[in-house]
Amino acid sequence: MEQVDEATVAGLYRKYATDLAAVIEQQRAFLADHRQVTPQLDDIEAEITYLLLREYRPATVMELGTFHGWSTTWLLSALRDNGTGRLHSFDKIDNVERNVPAELSAGRWSLVRGDMRTGLSQVPTEVGHLFVDADHGRRFARWYLEHLFPLMPAGIPVSVHDVFHGRRVRVWSEGAEVVAWLRERDVRPFSASRSHSPATFRALNRVRDELGLTGARGTGANPMIFFTLP
Ligand SMILES: C[S@@+](CC[C@H](N)C(=O)[O-])C[C@H]1O[C@@H](n2cnc3c(N)ncnc32)[C@H](O)[C@@H]1O
Repeated sequence: MEQVDEATVAGLYRKYATDLAAVIEQQRAFLADHRQVTPQLDDIEAEITYLLLREYRPATVMELGTFHGWSTTWLLSALRDNGTGRLHSFDKIDNVERNVPAELSAGRWSLVRGDMRTGLSQVPTEVGHLFVDADHGRRFARWYLEHLFPLMPAGIPVSVHDVFHGRRVRVWSEGAEVVAWLRERDVRPFSASRSHSPATFRALNRVRDELGLTGARGTGANPMIFFTLP
């Protein structure tokens, strides 16, 4: 896959607008029905995640970090709408099992509970999309760059959350490690962060306004980065 860019994402918004609008409504209702769920992904980054899965139709998706299931339900919604694909989630806790609706999980979801650092043997083969939103410390990032990324096929879409909360990546953070690792490989990640990439943030919001998409939560920080694995 080519590196993701603003024009590609804007095109995906237009291409999948109707389905995306339905998932936004579904996710709003999910939150209203599950008051115990603390959602983490902001609107645009959740929507881009959905759009990339729709466009590239991975057979196997890996999610590291489910928490209460907000990202899990977005990922599963894309696989449901594709009519194909399985999600393999990993987390130290299993709260997510109480929250993910059966109509989304049935036949397409499994959760491995435990520290990822002891769970590498359970990583599926031929992952087609990797989603990372777990421990945001630099040690954990160094661990997964060294041990998990080499298990992933080159050329797959990867997203890492909590990188650009501000204009720059925080020092001593997971994000700093990942951005440095990418820079060494000449990869500039895509971001729709309000602080780091304000022009892209505004451009995508114009597309969303034009399409009448108001977001499932109404949040706008979007610190996630997206890149094609070198
Ligand atoms: C920020 S939350 C994930 C939020 C979720 N993606 C969402 O959209 O709501 C981080 C999660 O990573 C999990 N986690 C942290 N370190 C981990 C590790 N070493 N192995 C597995 N899971 C881990 C935590 O238990 C927590 O549920």
